[in-house]
Amino acid sequence: MEKKSILITGGAGFIGSHVVRLFVNKYPNYQIINFDKLTYAGNLENLNDVDKASNYHFVKGDILDEAAVEETFDKYQINAVIHLAAESHVDRSITNPLEFIQTNVIGTANVMNVAKCKWENDFSDKRFYHVSTDEVYGSLGATGYFTEETPYDPRSPYSSSKASSDHLVRAYYHTYGFPMVISNCSNNYGANQFPEKLIPLFIHNIKQEKALPVYGKGDNVRDWLWVNDHADAIDVIFHEGKDGETYNIGGNNEWQNIDLIKALCKIMDDKLGRVSGSSEQLISYVKDRDGHDKRYAIDSSKLKNELGWSPSIEFDQGLVNTVDWYLNNEDWLNSVTSGDYQKYYNQQYNER
Ligand code: NAD
Ligand code: DAU
Repeated sequence: MEKKSILITGGAGFIGSHVVRLFVNKYPNYQIINFDKLTYAGNLENLNDVDKASNYHFVKGDILDEAAVEETFDKYQINAVIHLAAESHVDRSITNPLEFIQTNVIGTANVMNVAKCKWENDFSDKRFYHVSTDEVYGSLGATGYFTEETPYDPRSPYSSSKASSDHLVRAYYHTYGFPMVISNCSNNYGANQFPEKLIPLFIHNIKQEKALPVYGKGDNVRDWLWVNDHADAIDVIFHEGKDGETYNIGGNNEWQNIDLIKALCKIMDDKLGRVSGSSEQLISYVKDRDGHDKRYAIDSSKLKNELGWSPSIEFDQGLVNTVDWYLNNEDWLNSVTSGDYQKYYNQQYNER
């Protein structure tokens, strides 16, 4: 197996930690360097089952810090990047857009430019993998799917910042022949997701018998993918994807928010031994998210047809496994919801 030294940015976050674990375990010959600032969303506890591995290294650093990124490239002779570090929560981007522009646009440009400079003399056997989102395509009506050809139409500060970074990465390919690949994925769910996103937040609230704040009418639609399936897709695209290409990744699994929330309530009643229907009583319709995208749905047939990837698990099973993980990992949930979490929660939900 070829030797690689891969910089994974944002490896302490939700998706990043699953990607790091997969690569550390599956490719003992590769050096995996997790470069993460450890913002509120980054947590090294996500990796305590692999952090002693001899092919794993952690660097605490900011992607905006050019010198720190350069130093890491030099120290570990980086020849590939999987770039996940980002501000990732739409609601936070509405209250604090500039932080998203800094991290997601300037931060991506910075890491990519360091890679370009370090690799300039030889792009062969190099790869810069930019992990992006389906939200760059905008919002769908009742029918249709996002394909790789769908024109960009981002509508939140988060999705616009991701779209900007995608454009920059493609511009480097067209201008310099920079060896990049991009994937745009739908909503992920699974273990280790910070409880500000819908599924872990609602599991946490149901457990505590707190209100479940459903935005608007609860009729927005998302396409849910198990995070481990996303990590597998990243593995496949990293190794088999073609330079300059984009691959959409989706679960083929659309749910209206309210239906998903009711399904979650049912599982939680069952797991917690509560009277059937009691968690649904916690549902509370609140003011809608500003500019709330109506529907996302991904056509991932290119990835399936060209590289042979498709999701491995049915949603019913994935959701039960996810609930089990949060119920069995109370310490993790308690530790990430202490401190600043309460302040965020009060600001986000108390005036709705
Ligand atoms: P996350 O918020 O859980 O994790 C982000 C990680 O990036 C954290 O570990 C954080 O500490 C780190 N980080 C943030 N700013 C940094 C900086 N300046 N320097 C270094 N590290 C920094 O995010 P996630 O949900 O795991 O998403 C990872 C990537 O996947 C993002 O690029 C996101 O846009 C994309 N994505 C997410 C989803 C999803 O459903 N969560 C879907 C599609 C694409
Ligand atoms: O589509 C991919 C994107 O999915 C990723 O790029 C983002 O990083 C990720 O955060 C996610 O974005 P969403 O905005 O779709 O995820 P979120 O979990 O915040 O919300 C899912 C849906 O649930 C959305 O329609 C808003 C709604 N919602 C969310 C929260 C947090 C509620 O009704 N109430 C809530 O409290």
